[in-house]
Amino acid sequence: MNKPIRLGIVGACGRGASFKTACDAVQQVAIQAVCDTDAERLPGARERLGARQQYTDYEEMLDRAELDAVIIGTPMQHHAPMAIAALERGLHVLSEVTAAVSIDECRALVAACKAGKGVYMMAENYTYMKPNQIVKELARQGLFGTPYYAEGEYLHELKHMNEHLTPWRRRWQTGIDGITYGTHSLGPILQWMPGDRVVRVCCEGTGVRHSDHTGAPYSQASSTLLGKTARGALIKIRVDMLSDRPHAMTNYQLQGTDGCYESSRGGPGDRNKIWLRALSRELAWTDLEAFQNLKELADKYLPEMWREQGAAAARAGHGGGDYFEILDFIDAVRGTRPPVIGIHEAMDMTLPGLVSQLSIADGGRWMDVPDSRSW
Ligand SMILES: NC(=O)c1ccc[n+]([C@@H]2O[C@H](COP(=O)([O-])OP(=O)(O)OC[C@H]3O[C@@H](n4cnc5c(N)ncnc54)[C@H](O)[C@@H]3O)[C@@H](O)[C@H]2O)c1
Repeated sequence: MNKPIRLGIVGACGRGASFKTACDAVQQVAIQAVCDTDAERLPGARERLGARQQYTDYEEMLDRAELDAVIIGTPMQHHAPMAIAALERGLHVLSEVTAAVSIDECRALVAACKAGKGVYMMAENYTYMKPNQIVKELARQGLFGTPYYAEGEYLHELKHMNEHLTPWRRRWQTGIDGITYGTHSLGPILQWMPGDRVVRVCCEGTGVRHSDHTGAPYSQASSTLLGKTARGALIKIRVDMLSDRPHAMTNYQLQGTDGCYESSRGGPGDRNKIWLRALSRELAWTDLEAFQNLKELADKYLPEMWREQGAAAARAGHGGGDYFEILDFIDAVRGTRPPVIGIHEAMDMTLPGLVSQLSIADGGRWMDVPDSRSW
């Protein structure tokens, strides 16, 4: 029997806490320590998460808590420095998205991964959502033929969060033009195009349409990135965290030579729908949920992990995504298999957004996206 992985969670009063349910469900980790700069709320978080130790200083936790691994659930601008500090101490890292907030930080993070012996994995949980996993499995089995077009959108109005709850978003998510938070949209798409990556992007925006409570302008309301992949596919990513409209954070499309997929856009009666030449000669949609419920199809095309552990996963929250994410991280830490979203996959998901910020500042010019494998 393997010893439980001793875990520290930083950002424990915020997003970091939401990993608790999945940690309990997988039963192979012990939350040893929690860390948060919010000293007032920290004792409550420690209790809720069942940790023995608490710290307000991250580096002190790393040095004193005798950890094997950390989960980083702090605001975006801390992800890369915190991951690097842990990797330098030989620890394993599961980091919230995005991996970093600048290309220089990306380079430093890749260098730390190369130098350190710990595993780095990015917690891109939208890739684990059940519909996205089914599409991934269908793509893996070649049922879309050659994928050549995809879209992802993250439309999540959060001005109220800027002002009151999570003020860091004001600068890092809605204070910079371009795609600041693109991994939930691009992450699943890249998994549907295995072996491919975005090599060039351009980006444009709608202009500034909102100002904050002080009257200062926010970034442009909606930004759209166009990306070309190494294999010639076209990807469109739209991020909008300012426009007044119903939320729709999981909008996706995929088009291949032999099939296509369109997720529900969340409107009344809208459904995830799919067309595959292998299943229907007629060019007509099938409801993805109906598709899952057709037993003979589900047996064949539901990813194995969902067939075997779907019930346990569902209990762990976020539609099972958190559960499988933690399981994958544990497998990577134990050396059973490489992390599903290791450092280079994390860079493939993060760098196009960062380059899009340079493109939009330069009139929407097409720009190359560096390949972290060559760094
Ligand atoms: N994957 C997802 O679905 C998802 C959902 C929500 C948030 N997130 C990500 O999680 C991160 C946190 O978001 P949030 O909404 O929980 O923000 P938040 O501000 O509510 O929580 C962040 C926590 O980190 C703490 N913190 C800040 N700086 C710290 C430091 N230097 N050391 C220790 N603790 C520190 C804060 O006190 C706070 O409790 C962000 O990167 C966000 O993008 C991801």
